[in-house]
Amino acid sequence: MTSASPTARLHNLSIAVTSIEDDKNLLEKAAKLAEALQLHQISPLDQKNYTLLLVYTEKGLQIQLKEDRKQKRAVTLLVDFLSNALTYRRQHGGGIKQALARAVGIKSGIRPTVIDATAGLGKDSFLLASLGCKVTMIERSPLLAALLNDALERAAISDELDSGLISRLTLLQGDAAEILNRNWEVTKVKPDTVYLDPMYPHNRKSALNRQEMRIIRKLVGDDDDADKLLKAALHHAGKRVVVKRPKGAPLLGDQSPTHVISMKNSRYDVYMI
Ligand SMILES: C[S@@+](CC[C@H](N)C(=O)[O-])C[C@H]1O[C@@H](n2cnc3c(N)ncnc32)[C@H](O)[C@@H]1O
Repeated sequence: MTSASPTARLHNLSIAVTSIEDDKNLLEKAAKLAEALQLHQISPLDQKNYTLLLVYTEKGLQIQLKEDRKQKRAVTLLVDFLSNALTYRRQHGGGIKQALARAVGIKSGIRPTVIDATAGLGKDSFLLASLGCKVTMIERSPLLAALLNDALERAAISDELDSGLISRLTLLQGDAAEILNRNWEVTKVKPDTVYLDPMYPHNRKSALNRQEMRIIRKLVGDDDDADKLLKAALHHAGKRVVVKRPKGAPLLGDQSPTHVISMKNSRYDVYMI
């Protein structure tokens, strides 16, 4: 993972990195991550003093969030590209005919390069990579980027996935508008498609479940600057920009798309360049 700027504190949450037990390997990973994000590393025994923890467990890196210190059970978030839900979508989600694939420009024999400028938990990126696209994921939350990085490392050594799938995914941490600008200045190469799925204030029906959404909203807020990101995307995409919106939500930046692909609870606004 390429890191743009580590973050030490977030709103008024007390954050630390730890591991679930005194496992040497997990403790070492925790130490590395604490250094990279400039966070405290704490002993597994001190966890009760923190409301937000990045915890290395045997399943992978987890975010554990409590509304306050008295809350007994934390809500947890983990990125798992081998989850049953994602495996089902990969195997039975409709292949290149599914709405996401059509929206980004996948066709028989055509696999656009994609920048997913709002990577989140990486579900859309992973599905596009499983269909054969090279996808660059950009996520500005350093904590979510850490979860994505951990999930990529675990998936890369799993024998349940084609070896090529994970190698088609690259992760960058930072603000996507800035990275799109910098990328163009350095490479002068435009991605075919820039994909945006910003947070939406009343986004009850989302690919993310309610618990995932609650934690992400707490970590990243409402993506109020998504209009600005659309501008940068339109400037830097080679062929199209795709914006995912909940059904009935207003257009991003008041910009009319070239066409719309509608689904039951959401839609893809497609802007051809
Ligand atoms: C609704 S989530 C995306 C979910 C994602 N499509 C998935 O399949 O898991 C939106 C994410 O976009 C990220 N984001 C919003 N604006 C961004 C920007 N300008 N640069 C990088 N990441 C951004 C937020 O931090 C948040 O994690």
